[in-house]
Amino acid sequence: MAEIDIIGSGHMARGIATRMLHGRNNVRIISRNDSQMRDLVESLGAGATGAYMGSPLTSNVVILAIPHAATREVILEYSDGLDGKVIVDISNPVDYATMDRLTTEPGSSAAEETAAMLAGRAEVVKAFNTTFAKTLATGSVAGLPLDVFIAGDSESAKAKVSALVAGSGMRPIDTGPLRWARELEAFMLLITALQVNPEHEHFDWDTALKILP
Ligand SMILES: NC(=O)c1ccc[n+]([C@@H]2O[C@H](COP(=O)([O-])OP(=O)(O)OC[C@H]3O[C@@H](n4cnc5c(N)ncnc54)[C@H](OP(=O)(O)O)[C@@H]3O)[C@@H](O)[C@H]2O)c1
Repeated sequence: MAEIDIIGSGHMARGIATRMLHGRNNVRIISRNDSQMRDLVESLGAGATGAYMGSPLTSNVVILAIPHAATREVILEYSDGLDGKVIVDISNPVDYATMDRLTTEPGSSAAEETAAMLAGRAEVVKAFNTTFAKTLATGSVAGLPLDVFIAGDSESAKAKVSALVAGSGMRPIDTGPLRWARELEAFMLLITALQVNPEHEHFDWDTALKILP
């Protein structure tokens, strides 16, 4: 059983917390939105607790369930409270105004930007950006366990995240170093755009990226 801090109390916080609890871990929802945090903790049930943004982090693994644009603010708020931790960047820096570009510069990724902000003080792992919140409710799609694609420069940090993923009933797929987050994020630009494309009205944020067989 592990303790996991999740920063954010929105859709992905709910989805990831649901899976982590399924894996018999404990989760702590940390949010600036007190009422949403309390509602989420109550609906998650046993194993879930909550704390207000800025409360000390107690877990070695911290999942950033926030928009990429909020990452700098959160890192500044926590300052050295993040040192030595495994920081999981789940973000998709999609430009939601156009749905046809990423907000990151070519040749970079949100995860690499997060790592640069942390300047080596913590290990950044990309994970969960390819799993829509809806699919995390059950952890499966079309009856098959979700694949969770993982990228990172620290083998030990990736091993910790992979163990959490596997222990929660999903399949971790280590794609390689953190620079592979560029491909994971770019792919999700495509998948996200397809969710709102009228040609594919049966896609409803419930699709999943999975490698078969
Ligand atoms: N939704 C999906 O299916 C999906 C799939 C893969 C990856 N992602 C990624 O997951 C992340 C979260 O997405 P979501 O769908 O969970 O979004 P969401 O439902 O809008 O939740 C976002 C959370 O971030 C918090 N937040 C926003 N700005 C903040 C700030 N400056 N400081 C502290 N907290 C802040 C929000 O708090 P308030 O309520 O106070 O605004 C809320 O708790 C995003 O990076 C997204 O790209 C989403």
